[in-house]
Amino acid sequence: MEKQEIRTFGRRHGKKLSQRQSWLLDNVLPTLKPTTGDILEIGFGAGEHVRFLAKNNPQSVIIGAEPFMNGVASLLSAITDEKTNTILDEYKNIRIWADDVRDFLRQTDSQFNQIWVLHPDPWPKARHEKRRLLSAEFLNILSQHLSADGEIIIGTDHWEYFDWIIAQIQRTELTATIADLDIIQTRYQEKNKAGTTNPKYLILHK
Ligand SMILES: C[S@@+](CC[C@H](N)C(=O)[O-])C[C@H]1O[C@@H](n2cnc3c(N)ncnc32)[C@H](O)[C@@H]1O
Repeated sequence: MEKQEIRTFGRRHGKKLSQRQSWLLDNVLPTLKPTTGDILEIGFGAGEHVRFLAKNNPQSVIIGAEPFMNGVASLLSAITDEKTNTILDEYKNIRIWADDVRDFLRQTDSQFNQIWVLHPDPWPKARHEKRRLLSAEFLNILSQHLSADGEIIIGTDHWEYFDWIIAQIQRTELTATIADLDIIQTRYQEKNKAGTTNPKYLILHK
């Protein structure tokens, strides 16, 4: 029997969605199902950085993966015209996988130029540590989906998780550098800001 995968995310549903958001989930989300793409963002939350990527890389297909449906609904609201509910021109290159990214990676042959993971859930309690997404096993799967000169960019302001990720990278063939990036603030970065300084970023190459 296949070993059951450990769930790396919390809840899938939050507060009740607006009528428009429910409509977008039913009618627009199915039209955005990804097959292959150039840039992947994993766990996009409300999707601020997916939108930033889409605007700044108009020639690339940006795939966002997120199982939290309220986050998916927020992204859909932001990329569609309020009156017509059609996708705004600057966001026509966005595709959405509204589920566990590991399921998507099993079914795509994409070789990404960039894979972003911003503020992955730290699962700080020792008994939850196995739920952390960025294990060596998962990094190896990401590496298989990275183009030869592609990069995996990870940002976190949870220092214990940061050190743990470095230990995981050391169990893979990937190389890592610590970088100072000036990117837009995501919702989680805002939330955590009070407790820590700026996030640290890791850039991984094959
Ligand atoms: C702490 S939030 C950060 C959200 C966003 N990146 C930000 O910075 O605001 C982590 C997100 O990762 C998502 N996540 C966790 N495991 C995932 C998985 N296996 N596939 C896709 N997304 C996942 C969670 O649902 C959650 O929304």
